[in-house]
Amino acid sequence: MDKFIIEGGKKLHGHVSVSGSKNAALALMPATLLASGKYHFKNVPVLRDLTTMGRLLSLMGVDVSQEGHSLSLNTFRVNKFEAPYEQVKKMRASVYVLGPLVARYGHAKVSLPGGCAWGPRPVNLHIEGVRKLGADVNVKGGYILARAKRLKAAKINFTVSSVGATGNVMMAAVLARGTTLINNAAMEPEIVALEHFLVKMGARIDGIGTSRLEIEGVDQLHPVDENLIPDRIEAATFLIAAALTGGTVTVENCKPVHLSAVMSKLEESGAFLQTGDSSITIRAPKSIRPVNVTTEIYPGFPTDVQAQWLTLMTIARGTSKITDSIYFDRFKHVPELIRLGADIMLEKNSATVKGVGKLAGAKVMSTDLRASACLVLAGLAAHGTTEVLRVYHLDRGYESIERKLHQLGARIRRVSGKEF
Ligand code: UD1
Repeated sequence: MDKFIIEGGKKLHGHVSVSGSKNAALALMPATLLASGKYHFKNVPVLRDLTTMGRLLSLMGVDVSQEGHSLSLNTFRVNKFEAPYEQVKKMRASVYVLGPLVARYGHAKVSLPGGCAWGPRPVNLHIEGVRKLGADVNVKGGYILARAKRLKAAKINFTVSSVGATGNVMMAAVLARGTTLINNAAMEPEIVALEHFLVKMGARIDGIGTSRLEIEGVDQLHPVDENLIPDRIEAATFLIAAALTGGTVTVENCKPVHLSAVMSKLEESGAFLQTGDSSITIRAPKSIRPVNVTTEIYPGFPTDVQAQWLTLMTIARGTSKITDSIYFDRFKHVPELIRLGADIMLEKNSATVKGVGKLAGAKVMSTDLRASACLVLAGLAAHGTTEVLRVYHLDRGYESIERKLHQLGARIRRVSGKEF
């Protein structure tokens, strides 16, 4: 297992380019199961999670090949309709194959994902949604078993706004007979990207980008090519890294409109921001003002940026409160940040963070993707040397993060597992 060694205290400066969106790719790749043929995706990041999704699809007979940032999929020979536990346990998004498989092939066997590093993450809404569309769904031996001759339209009212359930049920409904209504649909940019992709494939979806979707099922879809949207979480991570280190950074190839909640919090904290069509320049303030944040569904502040924001607040000039209203237990980074000298009190799903001005380097351990990102950011801002262990979590969702940070002047290096 690799680790990062970071010599902190260096201001980040310069330009950094954001990769394509991991979560958009994770939704669009399984959507290719909905129609036979060849697909080409551009702006695809090189990430472990996408390799995992590629492997899962190839187990089903999809021909998958990635060259740099281009990904080709050929779904002509799909002959297996199963997502085995061994794959799903590596990555929860594997459950996205449920909707497309049952809609197009009439059956699916998909392992239940189980919990994740920071607590339970149910898939009940995925299951209920597919069931409402007329599939016969059983849960047996840790697997979701779904069957249907042809799915039938239904009215689905999600009790919780869920990215994954919206994507899954939408992918099922595009081939169902009749018009499906989804209320309380997720509006995250990655779901909107999936909506546009499905429409390009021939789906009929009304209400794109809203929480009320009307989907008129069609008999057949066709393969298309797509360019992935930029990764808004990666962009937010670089913006916060600049603020934490007191630097000036231009984040390129991003979509500022996807980042408005994060940008307005950064402005409240005293940072100066300037946006272009596809770039954001941030100039850090002399000292960071404390700013409370509560994570919300889009367009609110993303839960995937909560750990990074909390890290910024550890060096603020005062006390702030960070609340996660999406994942109540998503605070595994807190004990590690305390090892770096942060002053944080946790109560239920809120953290009270007293700014300490400066963190001090130490050895810390990554527990999950975004927690790992925040530890790297903390290391960049801390005095002295920080070692971040188990960085394989980062490789799931950040392409070449050490190269990109190095380009901005950070002193960060990867030490491979064999060397220590
Ligand atoms: C997606 C993102 C993840 C992000 C999350 C919230 C991908 C691959 N992952 O995850 O990075 O943190 O959105 O923005 O896109 N819920 C239920 N039942 C369900 C499904 C969800 O109760 O069947 C709850 C969850 O526990 C959570 C909330 O709904 O409290 C939102 O989760 P959801 O939007 O489904 O997250 P994911 O799609 O798993």
